[in-house]
Amino acid sequence: MRTGILEKYASFLPVSEQTPKLTLYEGETPLIFAEQLSDELGVELYLKWEGANPTGSFKDRGMVVAVAKAVEEGSRAIMCASTGNTSASAAAYAARLGLRCLVVIPHNYVAMGKLSQAIMYGAEILALEGNFDQALAMVRQVAAEQPITLVNSVNPYRIEGQKTAAFEVSDQLGQVPDILALPVGNAGNITAYWKGFVEYHEHGYTSTLPKMWGFEAEGAAAIVQGKPIEKPETVATAIRIGNPASWETAVQARDQSNGLIDSVTDQEILAAYQKLAKSEGVFAEPGSCASIAGVIKKKAQGELVAGQKVVCVLTGNGLKDPQTAIQHTNFQPKVVPFDYQALVSAMLPEKDA
Ligand code: F0G
Repeated sequence: MRTGILEKYASFLPVSEQTPKLTLYEGETPLIFAEQLSDELGVELYLKWEGANPTGSFKDRGMVVAVAKAVEEGSRAIMCASTGNTSASAAAYAARLGLRCLVVIPHNYVAMGKLSQAIMYGAEILALEGNFDQALAMVRQVAAEQPITLVNSVNPYRIEGQKTAAFEVSDQLGQVPDILALPVGNAGNITAYWKGFVEYHEHGYTSTLPKMWGFEAEGAAAIVQGKPIEKPETVATAIRIGNPASWETAVQARDQSNGLIDSVTDQEILAAYQKLAKSEGVFAEPGSCASIAGVIKKKAQGELVAGQKVVCVLTGNGLKDPQTAIQHTNFQPKVVPFDYQALVSAMLPEKDA
């Protein structure tokens, strides 16, 4: 039976009898074997489908812990800066417990699905004329002065909840993968996965550790370039971040795991985005597909060993960003008159000739 993160992984989390029993049944997301991609890349490739979480992204794992702890500690209001998914998740869990939820988003750079979620869950939305990094700097300042709990991944409870995905991957695969690939934005998730793998290993549940492969968008690749990017740009708005808050712990995850952090272009991201949907039947948002794009890039560079077990984390659901799907494919509907023959001819044009 599903229980949600707080109950299922209580012994790994900073929770007690006093912690509210909050859940939207986050976690326990599928690990899907990717047949076509495995064939093409000569590895065993699996997709950790985090788009199956209650608000459609991995953020729910950490948010349930952060919001429950905020209430336990007496808070009545939460706040975040967000490229969209964090705000959707925060707004949902705040709604569940009747908390005020303030979200600060970069004006014009949040995908429609994510924005509509925050609206529907009743968040107070402030569209800042600035980017995510600027928004995060500001909400950190507000949180230092006001009795409002910050639920960005600089809140350690977020990382605690998100690390549970590493436990699930290990259990679902029956072992640790050789490589765990994921997109890197603010770098909280790579930090969380590594913490999870290390803890599971220390508790004796696994015998090895994976290599962590993180991928930034080329126009926002601060860690790759070794310096903050003042004006990050990428089609993958989820990871349009130029100064990751968890930079140091991401570098630790990379180095301790003998892994890598590299970048992928928008073109590579969009190609992976479409390929994933068409060949595996999994529609993940563009930012998520940095993991797939990265593994494809590494294959071309000869850095994948045949037969390796690779898990790509798909962090968010493609439905969150319908605009990119439609614009990128240049989709134009084939309009058909209300006439049976016309419909059949449109379906089978060759018969017409
Ligand atoms: N993938 C998706 C779909 C995301 O929404 C994010 C981050 C990431 C990857 C990167 O994860 O920041 O832990 O390295 N989204 C944040 C937000 C910034 O506000 O929703 P990270």
